[in-house]
Amino acid sequence: MNKHDSRIPPARGKLGVLLPGMGAVTSTFIAGVELAKKGLGKPIGSLTQLQAIRLGKRYENRSPLIKDFVPLAGLDQLVFGGWDFYADDMFAAATKAGVLDAAQLAPVQKELSAIKPMPPVYDPAYIKNIRAVSPKKGKTKMDLAQQVMADIESFKKKNGCDRVIMLWCGSTEILPERTAVHEDLEAFEKGLRDNAPEIPPSMIYAYAALKMGLAYGNGAPNLSADVPALVELAEQTGSPICGKDFKTGQTLMKTTLAPMFKARMLALTGWYSTNILGNRDGEVLDDPGSFKTKEKSKMSVLDTILEPELYPDLYGKYHHKVRIDYYPPRGDAKEGWDNIDIRGWLDMPMQIKVNFLCRDSILAAPICLDLVLFLDLAKRAGLKGIQEWLSFYFKSPQCREDLKPEHDIFIQHLKLKNTLRILMGEEVLDHSGLDYYDPAKGAASPAAAPKPAAKKKTLAKTGR
Ligand SMILES: NC(=O)c1ccc[n+]([C@@H]2O[C@H](COP(=O)([O-])OP(=O)(O)OC[C@H]3O[C@@H](n4cnc5c(N)ncnc54)[C@H](O)[C@@H]3O)[C@@H](O)[C@H]2O)c1
Repeated sequence: MNKHDSRIPPARGKLGVLLPGMGAVTSTFIAGVELAKKGLGKPIGSLTQLQAIRLGKRYENRSPLIKDFVPLAGLDQLVFGGWDFYADDMFAAATKAGVLDAAQLAPVQKELSAIKPMPPVYDPAYIKNIRAVSPKKGKTKMDLAQQVMADIESFKKKNGCDRVIMLWCGSTEILPERTAVHEDLEAFEKGLRDNAPEIPPSMIYAYAALKMGLAYGNGAPNLSADVPALVELAEQTGSPICGKDFKTGQTLMKTTLAPMFKARMLALTGWYSTNILGNRDGEVLDDPGSFKTKEKSKMSVLDTILEPELYPDLYGKYHHKVRIDYYPPRGDAKEGWDNIDIRGWLDMPMQIKVNFLCRDSILAAPICLDLVLFLDLAKRAGLKGIQEWLSFYFKSPQCREDLKPEHDIFIQHLKLKNTLRILMGEEVLDHSGLDYYDPAKGAASPAAAPKPAAKKKTLAKTGR
């Protein structure tokens, strides 16, 4: 993709946001949007709401906000719905999750109470530590998919939505055995009709969304739409997809620090990461099957960033360990510790300790907002299939099976912004800046030379 037709249709009408899984992340996301709509909360952490994007050369001083540069839906256009194991409305769910306190939730109680989950697709083989109260019933998995499609259709009609997107914010499922059922669409649809055990609920939701041409994002490490059969369906129906597993606390740190070690050619001996968390997500992850799914997602990042095959001396033999312990007193206020053993000049050992007292859902909520708005943009822009430019938001970015995912947060960020530039017919930025050294070009020409006031611009105002 080099240049895209920048005549992307505007974001007219209402955008339905359907979320399978309406627990801590979802309720914090929706509460935050409703508070922001009333001017009672700031959408901190959201690129679509706060970040600027530099266009052209530095001396051009063009740095609009992303939301003024690309045609995104506004917060007022969003309408929320979804499915959950529990019948709690979003006010009850947010209260139970305990991420935001009663005083913060009070001004949006009415809006949150009006959002009630629809009956979920449930399969006890895939989630062990929690149970659905009154799940959908169907003879086959195809029946269940059709019920989800009917839910989408009636939500769209009832709320007068112009477009709908789906974002999985449900619990982490146990990974299914990967079989021929996942390899192509025909086999997958047969599997749905035959109740193939390798098709978990998250794939049924993804199938329903993609069959209807909806964009689909996946915030958990579940495979969900990350199998060839569903990529094929996404291509066929013109649906953008992205996943997996929101990049929030520890992995955000890891994918920020590791590129620095590689950039400076510092060696890694070991990285020990441990977490305690006490929310429902922690309870689900306390089951070894669900933990294994999460562990796989968290472990994958270092090798692709450090490239031990290129630098065997520096990164060929490091020890990497990830632990998550369910510790109820902490609720959503997760604490992560990282002990990083590195080596420098003459193999001398050094250590770095990171102690991140984060709030899981507070870090995940802005990611949900950005993904909803960017996926909707992608759909209107005619992009389909895997959206690698949204890797920035994920621990295990979905990409073509023959490629390695990109984990380096700085490359991911550049890729995201360059994709926006391309979509709008602007030049991509490579930051080489060689033309600034050429007196015949750019800043050296009197017409283009920066004006004195522009020199005072702060880093934030340059919007790179
Ligand atoms: N920072 C973060 O919070 C973070 C980061 C990365 C990934 N995630 C992932 O996001 C997901 C949501 O996290 P959370 O903290 O909100 O968890 P949560 O337990 O509070 O909410 C998840 C909800 O999903 C529901 N659910 C599970 N399976 C379902 C199904 N088949 N259909 C409908 N609903 C279903 C559960 O009933 C539960 O209420 C988890 O998979 C988590 O691992 C969260």
